[in-house]
Amino acid sequence: MTDVDATLDAAGLTNTHVREYVKHWFEVTGAERLEVVNASDDDRLVAEAVEAGELLPVGEGRYYSRSYFKDTARAEERTIVATSDENDKGVYNNWRPAAEMKDKLVGLMTGSSAGKTMYVIPYLMAPPGSPLEKFAAGVELTDNRNVVMQMIRMARVGVDHINDLGDSFVRAVHVTGDLPNLGQGTPDDQRYFVTVADERTILHYGSSYGGNALLGKIAHGLRQGAYDGWKNGFLVEQFMLLGVVDKETGKKYHICGGFPSASGKTNLAMTLAPDALGDRYYVEFYGDDIAWLWVGDDGKLYGMNPENGVFGVAKDTNEKTNPTAVDSIVPGTGAIFTNVAYNPKLQEVWWEGKGPKPTDLDGWEDWKGDAIAARTGEEVDAPWAHPNSRFTTTLANVPNVAKDFEDPAGVEIHGIIFGGRTRDREPLVRAIHDVAEGVYDGLTLGAEATFAADGLEGVLRYDPMSMRPFMSYAEADYAAHWLEVIGRATKKPIFAHVNWFQRGDDGRFLWPGYRENLRPLVWLMQYMNGEVEGTKTPVGVIPKREELLLEGLDEQGLADLDTVLTIDVDRWKQEMDHREKHLAQFDGLPEEIWEAHRRVAADLDSAE
Ligand code: GTP
Ligand code: MN
Ligand code: MN
Repeated sequence: MTDVDATLDAAGLTNTHVREYVKHWFEVTGAERLEVVNASDDDRLVAEAVEAGELLPVGEGRYYSRSYFKDTARAEERTIVATSDENDKGVYNNWRPAAEMKDKLVGLMTGSSAGKTMYVIPYLMAPPGSPLEKFAAGVELTDNRNVVMQMIRMARVGVDHINDLGDSFVRAVHVTGDLPNLGQGTPDDQRYFVTVADERTILHYGSSYGGNALLGKIAHGLRQGAYDGWKNGFLVEQFMLLGVVDKETGKKYHICGGFPSASGKTNLAMTLAPDALGDRYYVEFYGDDIAWLWVGDDGKLYGMNPENGVFGVAKDTNEKTNPTAVDSIVPGTGAIFTNVAYNPKLQEVWWEGKGPKPTDLDGWEDWKGDAIAARTGEEVDAPWAHPNSRFTTTLANVPNVAKDFEDPAGVEIHGIIFGGRTRDREPLVRAIHDVAEGVYDGLTLGAEATFAADGLEGVLRYDPMSMRPFMSYAEADYAAHWLEVIGRATKKPIFAHVNWFQRGDDGRFLWPGYRENLRPLVWLMQYMNGEVEGTKTPVGVIPKREELLLEGLDEQGLADLDTVLTIDVDRWKQEMDHREKHLAQFDGLPEEIWEAHRRVAADLDSAE
């Protein structure tokens, strides 16, 4: 029998609240051994995982892992926010009563870690010393070693982060369960991913993949954080955060913003200036997936990235689309690749869009571990990597990471942008001054339905502020909270909507995207500064063609530029009807939001 007290004593874990919590769940889950983790244990844990075959080497100092083949993404339909107040029920948060869910999860977890080691991961979702530190601490218990190594990269991990915080930490229990027998995606699905938000307790059962299992990242960093932010006056969003530096004037602007999952946050935050603008502008990386925002004593809006690493989509990551990402996962970085293709003989990885497909198939295995050379019939054309395969690396490995990325004071936020995947209607960029109109724009953000089954042609899958999968309380309260927090800032950020995804009749992207996306951001900076005036439209101010820096933009980009700088009023009027239905779902939505909607609608009606 493991002596829990002796193990915790030896690890220097003195916080009595944490000790009681660990003891309780160690008993419930029936784990055999207990181990307390610090970030400095990484080398040893990696060596153990390689020895056990859980991690496979990718040359020197990089690793590969596969997850169970039915366990490759977040499972939104199995994700629940539970509280004791039914008023917390929203349209998207799958609200359930806390008591019911706790009973359910205790039942599922009882004895389910038998024979395994339970790892205790004390973590902080903030740079140490942050004004939001007391909301950022947590202790994850997990019975999966791979989760430990991912957490060490994605969060700040160590006993010192939690010893002095008393009861102010999130209790986060992760039990993997018997993955081949959980009925994933069937009516008999056994998986439950529950955040008991008003008890600051996270109970996840039935997955060892990414957002379902790294509880610091999404369950705490987004869902629990958003709930805590609502109760304590700050905002927690699925936002990237970057700085644009004008080397000539020395000025620096910080922009954060939300794009729905798989719509380009990581790519934008890691971007470099296009070659032609590189002498003048530089992009600094702060964060690619989560931002916490608060109003400082000086009345300015501040933001920080609570994470310590990047969990990026591998597909299409290459020297041309994202050279910074490529440099952040080179040998020696400790990067972990999940569910890409692997070649044990070469100790190499490959994914669609990495570069030319290897022509010598010898040794190559797809993301499920099946030999590529043995494929027959239709299998031959199947992707080698899972479309949601990912790389994990720490912020310090990102070449354009800002020097002050760990400054606990955070950075002043000058602009908030929203961006979806929209094949028409949405211009390259439109700037919005009014706070209510900016919040309204965020609430009506969406990405296109990709399959006919997802929805009607031309109707967006709305994703308010890109938080739909992470919403922890009712949307009307969420809107009111945004208006309250930004309203408190005496120096208001500007809002803007961006779109890199307009398409022509032949399906081609009208805007070249990626590094070229810096051009509209520079315009926004100049607009904030009064250096350009743009053209006023019913949906915001858009750039005049000659105001954009066009030097070095390719011919195709130039040819389609007028289209992405046009407002299609008829198409916008259609969209307003969809928006009305979308917003009407949210009982008690603040009147300011409805007023913004009616103002935009009236302006569109009077535009010819
Ligand atoms: P999550 O990490 O899931 O929240 O997604 P994300 O918002 O970070 O998305 P990411 O940056 O990983 O991009 C997702 C996909 O969009 C990738 O396949 C990119 O290649 C593609 N993408 C990103 N930026 C652009 C762009 O400017 N233009 C085009 N056409 N595609 C882009
Ligand atoms: Mn994300
Ligand atoms: Mn990302």
